[in-house]
Amino acid sequence: MKRFQSPGSLQSWCLQKRLENNPIALVPTMGFLHAGHVSLIRKARKAAGPTGIVIVTLYVNPTQFGQGEDFDAYPRDLKRDLAICRSEGVNAVFTPSHGSMYASPYSTYVNETLLSRQWEGIQRPSHFRGVTTIVSKLFLLTQPHVAVFGEKDFQQAMIIRQMTRDLHFPIRILLGPTLREKDGLAMSSRNAYLTENQRGQATVLYQMIQLARKELRFDPHRKWTSSRLGSVTQKLLQATPLIRLDYMAFVDPHTLQQAKTIRKGIRMLLAAYAGKTRLIDNGSL
Ligand code: PAF
Repeated sequence: MKRFQSPGSLQSWCLQKRLENNPIALVPTMGFLHAGHVSLIRKARKAAGPTGIVIVTLYVNPTQFGQGEDFDAYPRDLKRDLAICRSEGVNAVFTPSHGSMYASPYSTYVNETLLSRQWEGIQRPSHFRGVTTIVSKLFLLTQPHVAVFGEKDFQQAMIIRQMTRDLHFPIRILLGPTLREKDGLAMSSRNAYLTENQRGQATVLYQMIQLARKELRFDPHRKWTSSRLGSVTQKLLQATPLIRLDYMAFVDPHTLQQAKTIRKGIRMLLAAYAGKTRLIDNGSL
C-alpha cells in the first residue's frame, strides 16, 4: 500500500494511473475508521474491480469544523487506520498535513448554496462549505471515476451529488448504507465521545425512525402528516433525558425540503445532542 502525504505526489501518481486506464475509486474519510468505513472501502473495491485502484483519504479537515466545535478533540488513530486499509487491500492512502492542503494564504472555497442552507447548515453554518471545498480538492487530486460516501451523512451526500453535477466533475457518486451497532445506534467516529449513560440513550434516534416506519406499516392507508408522525415519534424522547433533540424533519430526499405529508421515499432526518456530542441519523420511510 502506498502512502502519500504531499498533494502533488498523490496527484501525479493518480494522473499516471488514469493514463494507464486504471479505474480509480476514492473513499474520503476523516480517519478513526470503523465498520461503516470498511463497508465503503469494500464498495469502492467492487466498483474499481480487483485490479483497479482504491484510494482512502484520512484527513481531519479543519475547514468543516466551526468555532468551538470538536476539531482538536476529534478522535484519531492513524496506526490503526493504516492497518485497516492495508488489510482491506487499499492501494493508496493520503494523509496530508494542514499546511499542504491549505497553504497560507488560503482563500478559495467551494460553496453549494441550496441544500446546504438547511438542517445541519443552520447549526453549523460553515460546515458544508468546508466539506465541499475539501471534497473538490480530493476529487482534483485523485481524479477518481467513482467516489463513495456514507448515507449516514445524508445531507452531506446529497450536497456532494449536487456539487458533482453542478461543477461537471466526471465522477460517479456511490452511497453506502448506514451501518449500525447491534442496538441500532448508527456507527460514527463521534460515538467514542459518549458516556455510558449517553450511549445507552443514544439509540433513541434509531428507535424514532423505526417507530415511524412501524406506524406507517400499521396504518398504510391513513394520510399521515409530518407533524402528526413527528409528535408520535417524539414521545420516545420522554424516556431519554440525556438526548436533546435539535431537529427532526421529514423531507423530500432530493430537495431536502420539509414534506407536509408522508409518502414513500420521504427521509426522516434527526439531529440531537448528548452533552456536547452531536448525533445525527436518518432513514427512508
Ligand atoms: O464524511 C466525512 O467523513 C467528511 O465530511 C469528508 C467527506 C471525508 C470530508 O472531510
